[in-house]
Amino acid sequence: MRAYTPLTITDAVLEQMASTPDPRMKEVMEAAVRHLHAFAREVNLTPAEWIKGIEFMTKVGQACTPARQEFILLSDTLGLSALVNIMHDKTKVEEATSASLLGPFFRENTPTFASGAQIAKKTEGAEVVLFGRVSNAQGAPLPNAQVTVWQTAADGRYDIQNGIEEIDCRGIFKTDVDGNYLIRTVRPLGYFIPLDGPVGQMVMSQKRHGMRPAHIHFLISAPGYRELVTALYLAGDTHLQDDVVFGASADLVAEVKDGDPACPITGQPSIHFDFSLARESEADKRAGRVGADPAAVTAGNGQATKPYGAPPAEIAAAAGPKKSGILGGLFRGR
Ligand code: BEZ
Ligand code: FE
Repeated sequence: MRAYTPLTITDAVLEQMASTPDPRMKEVMEAAVRHLHAFAREVNLTPAEWIKGIEFMTKVGQACTPARQEFILLSDTLGLSALVNIMHDKTKVEEATSASLLGPFFRENTPTFASGAQIAKKTEGAEVVLFGRVSNAQGAPLPNAQVTVWQTAADGRYDIQNGIEEIDCRGIFKTDVDGNYLIRTVRPLGYFIPLDGPVGQMVMSQKRHGMRPAHIHFLISAPGYRELVTALYLAGDTHLQDDVVFGASADLVAEVKDGDPACPITGQPSIHFDFSLARESEADKRAGRVGADPAAVTAGNGQATKPYGAPPAEIAAAAGPKKSGILGGLFRGR
């Protein structure tokens, strides 16, 4: 019989897993075990802390529904999603627009719109025009590229936070023969990530503000090119520097301008941003996305889909001055 010590236990596990047939699975699981054991040794993990961790992960799993992906939210708030995204972005075969987080509010069920259509059901004086060109890395326009966009409504909430049947502020567009896209939307607000679940408990226990800067998500694809998952972050937002999920980066900051002569629609504020796509490599075809429609990950865990709750009032109050408007007490942006 073997007598395990805090050090030899790690080798014993690795020895037993050595029979794993898939080499990549073997590599990933071996590293996971080595790091997990090293972590437990480093902090001298106690039984009470170990069970607290198990309880936390259990709650994270139980919070997942077809409308909510609490594990992705956990990965986001720990910077793991951003890390995987940044590493993946570095593998593209040529310079192009950088990637950003897909986030937990992407959904496959998205309506298709004609160029120039308004994606928001309620516009109420907050309209913004998005326009620009999609090109390849050498600057040649990409006609008929698919541009999927999604964002918060003017009240700072995503449609899916109000219920899985709600569809608003998201749409699929195509670029024209010159690679141009044109979208009408509303100005998004910076918002709290969902704080009403176990991940929110963790974020609040760490005394983090829990906010993302105002942004608009884009997923752009064209045959033969690497799919671009990115977002534009609105210039001037106070949380560009300390995004709770580490998605905002300087090269993706866009300004809302009044009276831009280049804007095809006059009389409305607009954002002009040109995107470029890198050619697709063989590895890109298998790489996947850092994120998914929650319904695609969770076939259903027996819980009815329930709306997201609001952040606790004291957290909202601590985040600073509030915006006026319907849900101004809850959401804040610039
Ligand atoms: C978002 O961009 O919508 C998002 C990303 C990560 C966590 C929560 C929200
Ligand atoms: Fe978002």
